Amino acid sequence: MQKPFYITTPIYYVNDRPHIGHSYTTVAADLMTRFHRLNGREVFFLTGTDEHGTKIAEAAEAAGMEPQAFCDEIVSQFKKAWEILSIEYDDFIRTTDDRHIKAFQKLLMILKGARTDDGKDVIYSDIYEGLYCTGCEKFLTEKELVDGVCPDHQKPPQILKEKNYFFRLNAYIDKVRDLIETNELVILPEERRREVLGLLKHGLPDFSISRERVKWGIPLPFDPSQHTYVWIDALSNYITGIGFGDNQDHFDKWWRESEVVHFIGKDILKFHCIFWPAMLLAAKLPLPAQIFLHGYFTIDGVKMSKSLGNVIPPDELVDQFGSDASRYLLLTQYPFGMDGDIKKSQFIKKYNSDLANDLGNLVSRVAKMIMSNFDGNLPGPSNEIEGIRDVINQSEKAVETTVEHYINFRLTQAIEEAMNLVRMANRFFDTNAPWKLVKEGKKKEAGGVLYACAEVIRIIAILLYPAIPNKAREIFTIFGLGMDNMNIDQARTFFEFKPGMKINISESVFPRLKETKKEKKPAQKDEDDLLDISEFGKVKLVVAEVLEVEKVEGADKLLKLQIDIGSEKRQIVAGIAQHYSPEQMVGKKIVVVKNLKPATIRGIESKGMLLAAKKGKQLCIVMPESDLPPGAMIS
Ligand code: ME8
Ligand code: MG
Repeated sequence: MQKPFYITTPIYYVNDRPHIGHSYTTVAADLMTRFHRLNGREVFFLTGTDEHGTKIAEAAEAAGMEPQAFCDEIVSQFKKAWEILSIEYDDFIRTTDDRHIKAFQKLLMILKGARTDDGKDVIYSDIYEGLYCTGCEKFLTEKELVDGVCPDHQKPPQILKEKNYFFRLNAYIDKVRDLIETNELVILPEERRREVLGLLKHGLPDFSISRERVKWGIPLPFDPSQHTYVWIDALSNYITGIGFGDNQDHFDKWWRESEVVHFIGKDILKFHCIFWPAMLLAAKLPLPAQIFLHGYFTIDGVKMSKSLGNVIPPDELVDQFGSDASRYLLLTQYPFGMDGDIKKSQFIKKYNSDLANDLGNLVSRVAKMIMSNFDGNLPGPSNEIEGIRDVINQSEKAVETTVEHYINFRLTQAIEEAMNLVRMANRFFDTNAPWKLVKEGKKKEAGGVLYACAEVIRIIAILLYPAIPNKAREIFTIFGLGMDNMNIDQARTFFEFKPGMKINISESVFPRLKETKKEKKPAQKDEDDLLDISEFGKVKLVVAEVLEVEKVEGADKLLKLQIDIGSEKRQIVAGIAQHYSPEQMVGKKIVVVKNLKPATIRGIESKGMLLAAKKGKQLCIVMPESDLPPGAMIS
């Protein structure tokens, strides 16, 4: 039996609206949750909001609201964001919840009564003087300032001198280091682990856990004149959110008997990898199993910031791409765990190439061919199809690799592996050309190809379910399946899809989106040269199928293609060799100009010309997406 899995995200500050930085971590945690459930594990997924401290109080004041009302308002925006991104958390903890405040005060009382190994009080009071940045909610050292201001917030820090209670961090540094070195507390990725060990090597001062001046916070139960430092309050959400000090059974199950994983961004490393473990040790509570710190991303190369106006709210993404594609796009921009850059312009391209072209098209053409050639009933399998063994082997391999990636937090690679399977299925479909088999009267073989493709699609939908849950379900429905009791083991079978299943597709799972990129209008000319419709009609464009392709000796730009234009077979020469390989072209549908005077290129006859789009060094051949037969006229 696998241990239950408890996964958390940071609880986000409510000083501002949710953006795609928060969405990134939360989507990732939702992926992990869905994956482990698929893998037969019990999972608890906690997220929430961090609502105390000066930063929030100031934001509320600026908005002319009471802090609590202000928090309520922003919290509703976070909840809405998670809803539109299809995030299914099990609980949402707010640090202004009564349950949190009570449980946190119990934790504080435990810490107040605790002694270090050498008998010292864990909590003690002292006078503190320091440079405080309210943006960071922390004291900064002189060294951290750049030109006298906080580099993150561009504001000079305040000088604060006050009585504080301190946590005796020093007594726990060695222990925390031991636990990390022996991997009892796993910090991932390795680079972050080294960073933490580096910090621990140099030692760290005790940290203060209370503020005299801050009023928007939780009062210390042993000295109500002081309010808790917001970070201490915040970290404890991971246990107050699962019943610490309140619901013992629930807490024991999810904290003591589960594998606990914190997902966070690398910006909050010190608090999570040093302060939090030390607090738990002092309170004699078990530590989490793993802390995974993902990277920080910029938007088009610059840090996301309100003043720069480049903050992307999740609803903007979801409005354009829908829930599932937004999740997909966020997690595939760069490998999860690394730092990266989110390029806005990549969203549409990636959506169209991966989701519309590769996945959407695979589903559409397989389902549509079954509808039009087999009355919508899934045909039976066949072992005779060329390459079928490969398809089975590659699917089996892809399933194991994808699972491995998910388990090891390689979310981007997991998705990529499943997408490779999509592309493999597309190639298999192209190579076996079921539409041709149908035409040749080999219906059984055509059915076998479609059956195998449907099987791969079923497997892909299971593998991608954690990333695109709604679309995976939609794909299942198209193929007459339901997702109840779905398990990853169902992706480990082949030839188990029941023939005869009713297949029905009405619209694309991922409809193509128009690229809205504004092209500069090339001068007047376009308008002057407007064509009359009859003039355009002179050009006969037809769909052709590429039968054979070879390179032209001594001409590294040219390919010689044998094509079928329906009425006849022809040979054309095209300058595409640097963009397409012969293998890539075979079986593809292209568009050619049929009524062009024959030409001789390098001594080879060319009858017609294929259509391609070109810009700078990029070239892309026009390929009709549907299953139109060769000879279909384009008008
Ligand atoms: O730090 N790239 O809250 P916060 C990647 N309340 N992830 C990003 C990101 C970006 N550009 N921007 C934000 C706090 N994030 C505390 C946490 S936990 C006990 C208390 C994500 O609202 C990432 O997960 O500033 C980061 O750690 C978190 O948002 C910071 O959110
Ligand atoms: Mg922050």
